[in-house]
Amino acid sequence: MIPNIKNICCIGAGYVGGPTMSVMADNCPDIIINVVDKNSERIKLWNSSNLELLPIYEPGLDRIIERCRGKNLTFSTDTKEKISSADMIFISVNTPTKKNGIGAGQASDLKWVEACAREVAMFAKGHTIVVEKSTLPVKTAEVIKTILKASQSNYNDAKTFEVLSNPEFLAEGSAIEDLEKPDRVLIGGESADAIIALSNIYKNWVPKDKILHTNIWSSELSKLTANAFLAQRISSINSISALCESTGADIREVSRAIGLDSRIGSKFLDSGPGFGGSCFKKDILNLVYLAKYFGLPEVANFWEGVVNLNNWHQHRISKLIIQKLFGTISGKKICILGFAFKANTNDTRESAAITICKDLLEEGAFLSINDPKVTKKQIEKDLEKISIDNNSNYTCSSDFFDLEGQWVFEKNIYKSAENSDAIVLLTEWAEYSKIDWNIISKKMRKPSWVFDSRSKLSAKDIINNGLLLWKIGDGSDNK
Ligand code: NAD
Ligand code: UGA
Repeated sequence: MIPNIKNICCIGAGYVGGPTMSVMADNCPDIIINVVDKNSERIKLWNSSNLELLPIYEPGLDRIIERCRGKNLTFSTDTKEKISSADMIFISVNTPTKKNGIGAGQASDLKWVEACAREVAMFAKGHTIVVEKSTLPVKTAEVIKTILKASQSNYNDAKTFEVLSNPEFLAEGSAIEDLEKPDRVLIGGESADAIIALSNIYKNWVPKDKILHTNIWSSELSKLTANAFLAQRISSINSISALCESTGADIREVSRAIGLDSRIGSKFLDSGPGFGGSCFKKDILNLVYLAKYFGLPEVANFWEGVVNLNNWHQHRISKLIIQKLFGTISGKKICILGFAFKANTNDTRESAAITICKDLLEEGAFLSINDPKVTKKQIEKDLEKISIDNNSNYTCSSDFFDLEGQWVFEKNIYKSAENSDAIVLLTEWAEYSKIDWNIISKKMRKPSWVFDSRSKLSAKDIINNGLLLWKIGDGSDNK
């Protein structure tokens, strides 16, 4: 019999759980959706009446929260109660790379997933469909099933479970759009009834032909593979951008030329400072671990190369900034435009900005960091360094030897530029394309450099205002 789902619980109110359940609630007004998280601070922010305080910034998310919260969408720390009333439970918790023990540095740490399975085993009532939403190594469903099965004999009340894999493909910054119009929804499982029950929910807004059914292992592996392929494209194009700079070619021309081949396609070919985000590195390393585990070292080495290239590329950018500034940046002020790992998100996890800023601080630069959505507190955490007070008189100096290796958080880009030697664009926020380079040029110390790691700034405006420009993958100096 196909279960008619009326009550859903999602464990994990993060970048996936929050937006995913919001879009589901918006499209399924007859289903009650309760999102729970053990982090009470995060839950408090999800419930704040000021929508600017939501813990996650995603364009369009605030309007959905406004429509659904308190109607068919709730956020709480009430795990026990919400699990026990649910017909379907999504596990959407974090699966970071293991820090210690077997597989440290590569395998996924599944302790939170296991904890969820135990909680579900303990509190669920009647028949419950458990859905893996987190990105998981192949065969994790086996672990979840084993824990759930054990509970059937542990507890007296009759409980039955089905486990499905339904990985999430949303990208941050475009999460709402991706969830509302997904390229596909992937559902893997053994029970046809459970698969149909979950498909019926998605059918409320996703066309039937975009809902794909596979076996559970294909579904788990497809998610890791999709991220590995996407990240591989970024490392590929970034490797060629270095070659462009050495040969006189231009990476944007090369991207366009290869992207017009319909077999390659034009998306995901923008060379940048190296991929960031919480998942690409973690998921590839997990794939590497799995390949090694299954005795396939050549496969492991192939994918590990994607991560190695990305690490090299990020440090390459720091090095060339230092080289262009006469081989030393100590006592020099450098403005950093953007700290998030991409535009339209406040997420900084694995952001290239962290590596590049740490390199520059290590070399003695004084950094003035700007980002429209990332907070000073978050940057302090990422750089493991407290910011200096931005009310202090630091802009008056013509050199910054007393501020070597320090940084300041600066909301005003024009103030940030005062007496600086270089501006480095790391995140492609739209507002950086509107900068008045005439004003900036008058404020900087000469010779002044602009490093555009995203190829998003107007080269003409920068050069016409007497600034020196380095642009990713632009080999024009070598023509
Ligand atoms: P996140 O860290 O933002 O959120 C996870 C949340 O789960 C946290 O708030 C944490 O407190 C909570 N949590 C952990 N264990 C819990 C427990 N036992 N009970 C209650 N709450 C618990 O993580 P995220 O970015 O949302 O990612 C979640 C999963 O989705 C990961 O596996 C990730 O790989 C995958 N994924 C992420 C993205 C993305 O864009 N961030 C996209 C697709 C898939
Ligand atoms: C990525 C995938 O795109 C999602 O499908 C997946 O669900 C998600 O990971 C996940 O599993 O977490 P996300 O990391 O949010 O999404 O963002 P992307 O748009 O993929 O960007 C990742 C990184 O690559 C960013 O640092 C971005 O700046 C960089 N990038 C992307 C480029 O340098 N060039 C490009 O052409 C595209």
